[in-house]
Amino acid sequence: QKGGYRFFMEKEIYEQSDVITETMMGRVVNSHIEFEEIESEFLQEIKAIKICACGTSYHAGLSGAYLIEKLARIPVSCEIASEFRYKDPVLHKDTLFIVISQSGETADTLEALKMAKSAGLKTLAICNVDNSSIVRLADRTILTRAGIEKGVASTKAFTTQVMVLWMLALYFSQLTNTLDENSRAKEIEALLHTPHALKVDENLHERIRRLSKRYLHGHGFFFIGRDIFFPLALEGALKLKEISYLHAEGYPAGEMKHGPIALADPELFTIALMPKNLLYDKIKSNVEELSARDSTICAISSQEFELADDFVRIHTWDHYMLEYYEMAVVLQLLAMEIAIRLGNDVDMPRNLAKSVTVE
Ligand code: F6R
Repeated sequence: QKGGYRFFMEKEIYEQSDVITETMMGRVVNSHIEFEEIESEFLQEIKAIKICACGTSYHAGLSGAYLIEKLARIPVSCEIASEFRYKDPVLHKDTLFIVISQSGETADTLEALKMAKSAGLKTLAICNVDNSSIVRLADRTILTRAGIEKGVASTKAFTTQVMVLWMLALYFSQLTNTLDENSRAKEIEALLHTPHALKVDENLHERIRRLSKRYLHGHGFFFIGRDIFFPLALEGALKLKEISYLHAEGYPAGEMKHGPIALADPELFTIALMPKNLLYDKIKSNVEELSARDSTICAISSQEFELADDFVRIHTWDHYMLEYYEMAVVLQLLAMEIAIRLGNDVDMPRNLAKSVTVE
């Protein structure tokens, strides 16, 4: 069943390159994005978007918020479902409400969807399980087509959710006319390259396996990134926490100097997401500050970084989303290799369930 892999999680990491192709199938047509699930009238009068989800799906949602604002210039907010439900949210009818869920059964996400519906908002689900409770309730659904995900730690569901959101951002940009031909062509080209960025390079995997032995102790990890690499940092930290039981935080790199840098010492591990195509000089100076305070730095980048104690080199891509996807794989592998060395059951981490149907 595991097809020669040690864990379902490993198998699912390796599957990502194929399932992402499934996610795109029939939706990229002549350099345009089409969704047969939604018609443009459904989106008429939409002035804003609110995304709601839990856990990893929330991190996908945050990533989507950056993409939609960047590409379609529609204001987006993204909220944790268990917070949204109890805060008496202000809801306007011209807001499209998007929920994201792998299982389609998460109690808080389902309840948030019910609230939005009864407030009269149009609702859209991004989900991996057809005919799940969330799919049945939402006005429209876009399926992620990741296939069954067995590992409790979500991997391929996450990358396909982000893909749907990226396509959705481009779809909205077609309606709002915010991208010129050239920029749209570049986006589509990058999008179609995603399976390459998600393909696990055996040498890269071996490199991560080897360096993981240096990261089994210490008093904590900070995963740092900027812009859309901030939610990716959150996701990297969550993956590590879930299966290695080590303390990890995801942080916006520019915020470190506002407090957390006080923790820096050699036992504080900084996992730095340093994309060449997005704010490279900014993140570089943040990492330099941490290095100057003696934090142990593991840099993930295509650009050589002299101050790194460990360096994971990714391919040189010309779009930040391809860097995002290859880094997502690096973070998943890193969490998995650390957890394996610690002797943990990667597929069934303690205290966690695959589907959280209680609030
Ligand atoms: C983390 C993980 C969880 C889920 C969360 C929401 O690896 O799997 O954080 O993302 O419980 O689940 P869904 O997406 O099924 O609503």
